[in-house]
Amino acid sequence: MVYSSNTENAQPITRKKTRVPDLLALKGKRKISSITCYDSTFARLLEKSKVDFVLVGDSLGHVIQGLHSTIPVTVNDIAYHTQCVARALHTPLLVSDMPFASAGFDDVTAYKNCEILLRAGAEAVKIEGASDAICRQIVQLTQHGIPVMGHIGLTPQSVHALGGYKIQGKTQAAEQRLLDEARKLQDAGCFAIVLELVTPSVAKLISDDLKIPTIGIGAGVNCDGQILVLQDMLGMNLDFKPKFLKHFANLENIIVDALNTYCDEIEKEVFPE
Ligand code: KIV
Repeated sequence: MVYSSNTENAQPITRKKTRVPDLLALKGKRKISSITCYDSTFARLLEKSKVDFVLVGDSLGHVIQGLHSTIPVTVNDIAYHTQCVARALHTPLLVSDMPFASAGFDDVTAYKNCEILLRAGAEAVKIEGASDAICRQIVQLTQHGIPVMGHIGLTPQSVHALGGYKIQGKTQAAEQRLLDEARKLQDAGCFAIVLELVTPSVAKLISDDLKIPTIGIGAGVNCDGQILVLQDMLGMNLDFKPKFLKHFANLENIIVDALNTYCDEIEKEVFPE
């Protein structure tokens, strides 16, 4: 059961569970909305929203673990947070990230890592990159019934090779390379592809070319859907404001104000009554 976002008189909205084929069917019909989540408090709120799919992203390295990159995040970290989310999230599709070095090497390891995430509650996995090794493994995983979402453009697990968190696809050659990668991932069996920090023209080129939906983050309006990091879009860290990010709320101030009111009331012996 979900509720309309109109707060005053929240009416229950019954909507059916979103599954992989439902996301595919949305391409060209309406834009797809997605968001990251790492815990069951927020998962409960997302369950009440209209969001189509939820990603337990390795961005939890930044948001939850306070790291400066996603590279130290492990499969067990993702599995733990997937379990937390899965306990409260039933309606949106639940996708979990395959973290750094969990795919693209030997096939058994990739399969076992997906197994850990699916047993934790994931309904699909997301894999960064489009190397031949990754694409070959995606073919195998999808043939074994594991839905895979691709991720190209700025792939944070390759931040060192990419030379930083920079916009991708600025030259004609880079644009063509990204289009080729997207086609390879589609042919390998991906049901959707995240386009992170690519130019809006590349996003349009790829979205128009593919039959599967593209999900953009910092990729402009031309994608088939959008994803943002939950805590970022809720404005829980107002110091973090990359150009593409919109704060849909200002929770940092609301939370700090509430904490200070609590402290004041304790000092003044107003609370507890
Ligand atoms: O880890 C993550 O949260 C992601 C999204 C930002 C696409 O990969």
